[in-house]
Amino acid sequence: MDKFLVTGGRPLEGTIRVSGAKNSALPCMAAAILTKDELILENIPQVKDIDTERRLLASMGAEVELTQDHSTRIRCATLSDPVAKYEIVKTMRASSLVLGPLVARAGLARVAMPGGCAIGGRPIDLHIKGLEKMGAKITQEHGYIEARAERLKGAHLVFDKITVTGTEDLLMAAVLAEGETLMENAAREPEIMDLAALLTKMGAKIAGAGSSTIRVHGVERLHGARHRIIPDRIEAGTFLAVGAITGGDLIVAGCEPAHLGAVAAKIQEAGARVETVAADAIRVRGNGALRGTDISTEEYPGFPTDMQAQFMALVTQAEGVSVIKENIFENRFMHVQELVRMGANIKVDGRTATVRGRSQLSAASVMCSDLRASASLVLAALVADGQSVLDRVYHIDRGYERIEEKLRSVGAKMERVRTAPDPAGNPPENGGEE
Ligand code: UD1
Repeated sequence: MDKFLVTGGRPLEGTIRVSGAKNSALPCMAAAILTKDELILENIPQVKDIDTERRLLASMGAEVELTQDHSTRIRCATLSDPVAKYEIVKTMRASSLVLGPLVARAGLARVAMPGGCAIGGRPIDLHIKGLEKMGAKITQEHGYIEARAERLKGAHLVFDKITVTGTEDLLMAAVLAEGETLMENAAREPEIMDLAALLTKMGAKIAGAGSSTIRVHGVERLHGARHRIIPDRIEAGTFLAVGAITGGDLIVAGCEPAHLGAVAAKIQEAGARVETVAADAIRVRGNGALRGTDISTEEYPGFPTDMQAQFMALVTQAEGVSVIKENIFENRFMHVQELVRMGANIKVDGRTATVRGRSQLSAASVMCSDLRASASLVLAALVADGQSVLDRVYHIDRGYERIEEKLRSVGAKMERVRTAPDPAGNPPENGGEE
């Protein structure tokens, strides 16, 4: 298992480029199931989760080619085995995204239940409830969910709770269903709009994606398409926090500023200068005088839960008190313990963490526990006194493309120490948190 060695204390300066959005690439790759034709997706990030999705699709009989130029060609001419096996689902919860498209295309889906995971109980009951309303027969056996339907039927779906992958999964089911589907209380994340844009290019009839009411008119079949994935707003937000915490001057290039509203506003409120300098670039300047700032995670366009850990690391360097409320997931403070080990003053009470700053962080050996928790430890290590050792960086590799190289290019002292893979060849258990 690889480790990162990070020496803190340098302001990071220069231009850092954002990759394509993992959380958009995953549903867009699953959309390939909906057609026999070839799908070409560009701006695919080279991260572990994408490779997991490739293996998942390939295990069902799809031809999937991931190229060095960040694109993928996927052809699901036949789907010999419409099953998402436990070995894959347990390493990536987003595997449940294939449920809707498989039933829609093959009339049958078997998907392993994700099970317990690192950032709180994350059921897929809303995906199942929606498919049932669309006429699928659902059974549960041996840890698998099986969904069957001759052809799904359009339905009126009202989500009890806003769910991102649930909205995506049911959107992919609805595009091939017979008749109209009305989805209310749908998620409004940019990744949903990106998926809808791809599906529309494939011939789907969708109105309202990006709002909480989505209307889909089912069609008989979809065809191939070419699509470019949107930039990763969470990677971009992480780099904004890097610029602010290190007192640096960074241009975060290749991003979509419109998707970063809440994050940019909070980093600015904390005392950094944040300005959009081009249609696809934001400049952040940390002047070294950060102030305590509260956040409360919400669905888009609110402050994203996927930026909560990084923001917490940032405000350990702010004067005063910051109150951080996590509303989306019940157990997403696993980074707190490690930040405290590095010298942060953080108290957790239920879903609220109170950070008192500013603390001088000192380098330590710390353990990455999930994807975004790991990013917060990188941030902390970048300002800590001395060299930190970050263990279990496979978590960060799930969602950040070559983060050590990107950060090194703007002046970070950070290197990867490669260690031998598990001799039994087992992939690391990673909690499948996203
Ligand atoms: C997606 C993102 C993840 C992000 C999260 C919230 C992907 C691949 N992952 O995860 O990075 O942190 O959105 O922005 O896009 N819930 C239910 N029943 C369900 C589904 C969800 O109760 O059937 C609950 C969850 O437990 C959670 C809340 O709804 O409390 C939101 O979860 P959801 O939006 O579904 O998260 P994901 O789509 O898994």
